[in-house]
Amino acid sequence: MRVLITAGPTYEPLDPVRFIGNHSTGKMGYALAEAFAAEGADVTLISGPTNLPDPSHARIQTQRVETADQMYTAAAAVAPTADVWVFAAAVADYKPRHVAENKIKKDGDTLTLDLVKNIDIAATLGQTKRPEQFSVGFALETNNEEDNARDKLRRKNFDMVVLNSLRDAGAGFRHDTNKVTLLTADGQMSIFELKPKAAVAHDIVAAVLARIPRHA
Ligand code: CTP
Repeated sequence: MRVLITAGPTYEPLDPVRFIGNHSTGKMGYALAEAFAAEGADVTLISGPTNLPDPSHARIQTQRVETADQMYTAAAAVAPTADVWVFAAAVADYKPRHVAENKIKKDGDTLTLDLVKNIDIAATLGQTKRPEQFSVGFALETNNEEDNARDKLRRKNFDMVVLNSLRDAGAGFRHDTNKVTLLTADGQMSIFELKPKAAVAHDIVAAVLARIPRHA
């Protein structure tokens, strides 16, 4: 079994010294890479900038990228031959329209950034998904969690969505724990307790393997 995982944030450069990014640590995606590798899968981990060391497991190949465009190019190269896709990255939604060649000087009292939408990696690859491939996405929500997650499931052609609610203490960004609800395209829902991210990763991997024909 081959697994593609995106993880961490993306950094979108403004000039040679600045970027737009977010607080994703990459921990959930790296934990998933370890959990899939422990089940015997060959994992390609495409990671945005994180402070985490490359996983040392022999079955995990890590590719480092910075921007959403680089993450897409790397993911698109692996996606056709992967059985499972896991989109755990917190991709920046927008990028600067132009990257300044030189450092932007503080000339005025205000500065307006012109941003354009980044490619949606999960949705774009989702359009190429074959029936035997299984795609997992993440949804981080603050309200109408289930409806928003179901909507994402459809829009991005996911087979499963891992829902984190920011209303749950200890879930989401900057925590070593997570509390997730798994929603599947066939209408099933499983609610899990707050756990360390490694244990959450094992729950997600078990749920995916149970739904893949040759593992079910
Ligand atoms: N995702 C992606 N590429 C993007 C944005 C998101 O691959 N440019 C993936 C994420 O890795 C995650 C899922 O899509 O698996 C959900 O991302 P999210 O940003 O929450 O969803 P959006 O559809 O952008 O909705 P919104 O930001 O409005 O909640």
